[in-house]
Amino acid sequence: MGRTSSQLPPGPRGLAALRAAIRMYQDPLRLLQDLPLRHGDVVHLGAGRTHVCILSHPDQMRDVLVTHNKNFVKASPHLARLVGDGLFLSNGEFHMRQRRLLQPGFHRDRLTGYGPVMTGAAEQRSSRWQPGVPFNLHREMLELTQVVVAKALLGTDLEVEADHFAQAMTTALEADLLLDRLPLPGAIKRLFSPSKRFLQARAQLDDTIRRAVDEHRRDPEARNDLLTMLLRARDTEGGTGGLTDAQVRDEAVTLFMAGHETTGAALTWTWYVLAQHPEAEAKVHAEVEAVVGNRRPEAADIPRLEYLRQVVSESLRLYPPFWVLRRIAVDEYQVGDYTVPAGTVILLNTWALHHDPRWYPEPWRFDPARMSAEAIAGRDRYTYVPFAAGPRECIGEHFAWMELILVIATVCQRWRLRLAPGHAVTPVAAVSLRPRGGMPMIAELRKPG
Ligand code: HEM
Repeated sequence: MGRTSSQLPPGPRGLAALRAAIRMYQDPLRLLQDLPLRHGDVVHLGAGRTHVCILSHPDQMRDVLVTHNKNFVKASPHLARLVGDGLFLSNGEFHMRQRRLLQPGFHRDRLTGYGPVMTGAAEQRSSRWQPGVPFNLHREMLELTQVVVAKALLGTDLEVEADHFAQAMTTALEADLLLDRLPLPGAIKRLFSPSKRFLQARAQLDDTIRRAVDEHRRDPEARNDLLTMLLRARDTEGGTGGLTDAQVRDEAVTLFMAGHETTGAALTWTWYVLAQHPEAEAKVHAEVEAVVGNRRPEAADIPRLEYLRQVVSESLRLYPPFWVLRRIAVDEYQVGDYTVPAGTVILLNTWALHHDPRWYPEPWRFDPARMSAEAIAGRDRYTYVPFAAGPRECIGEHFAWMELILVIATVCQRWRLRLAPGHAVTPVAAVSLRPRGGMPMIAELRKPG
């Protein structure tokens, strides 16, 4: 029988579908890798009126993220309780307006001023490491990126506030996460959440932002941080004014949430690949010595740290912090010969895409040469989506690149990192792609301190 356009895509059925749904909670990375191998680039998982469609081909990335992006919305009841209507979760016209308002604050030239915040935080944190004494690098990188984004957001003179803000954010993000992930009906989950712990942490965040906004309004000229940018944002197109206080709050919490977990994960995985590949590490050291020498790295050095850029790009391919992108189809959606109904959950399978031998031969091998300008030009743009693409592409991408390169360049002037013996590193699909049980590392001094 020939396929008709109303046919659902192939995928596990009956008991196999139930098993797959359970595995989606237990070991999503394995499932996201296995399903396309078994069923192809378009896979349907369903039970009753619930439909999930997993897409793993670059054409489908382009289709959902760019060509037909208006047919897809984002939704996450768990996250919405924390970030409200901020850029990460808002949709439609409202999202477009907010994006227009925030975009100028993320222009490459505007970000240069945050360079010293990034290198300063890297120096401060790594100066606490003791040669030969194991420590959890993942925790260190998360705390570092929290300090950076909190200072970029609130300003450098609010150091204590930045610390409190970071702690409250961690508590709020992790408070009800387990409950949220359990395969229970929404009505049952709502009986147990939000927890008191979450509500307290959220109130603390709101309080910090309110105080920081008051402070900024008292002295509006003196600052050049993201909160000032939010308070000054004006809609030049519609002439509809700027952000309300509630919107400033939602955007501030959103930027903090989106800006630290991902960058912390990316830094951790980059240190991991460098520790595993001493030849690449030696090339990075030589490049940093030639371009920067012994002074502090700065934003102007970044274009000349080309090999380091390739290393980070390849680490983002192997270990993409966003291992999957989630959307909901507004209307029914036709993908190839198949159609999925309105309301289908679409999972864009970054994990399988980035490890697909059709685009990356020997996909599990670390090879920074894949990320040279020529190699990139020879590949479809949608084979690589660590920052997504289209109108909802990561707004903080330049910020992230600056932080990744400057932090690594700063730390590696002094330290070489090695995995602590006896620990097997396994990626797990959490808020971002995290190493299971952290990443114990040992720092070795490169030069007398
Ligand atoms: C290595 C670091 C980072 C990675 C890999 C990353 C990746 C991404 C991805 C894949 C998305 C799209 C998510 C989706 O469509 O569901 C996204 C969105 C976003 N990111 Fe990032 N991000 C990083 C760092 C940052 C930083 C530093 C900031 C801010 C300071 C930031 C702010 C945002 C915001 C606000 C959005 C929502 C944009 C919108 O929907 O219009 N990100 N990021």
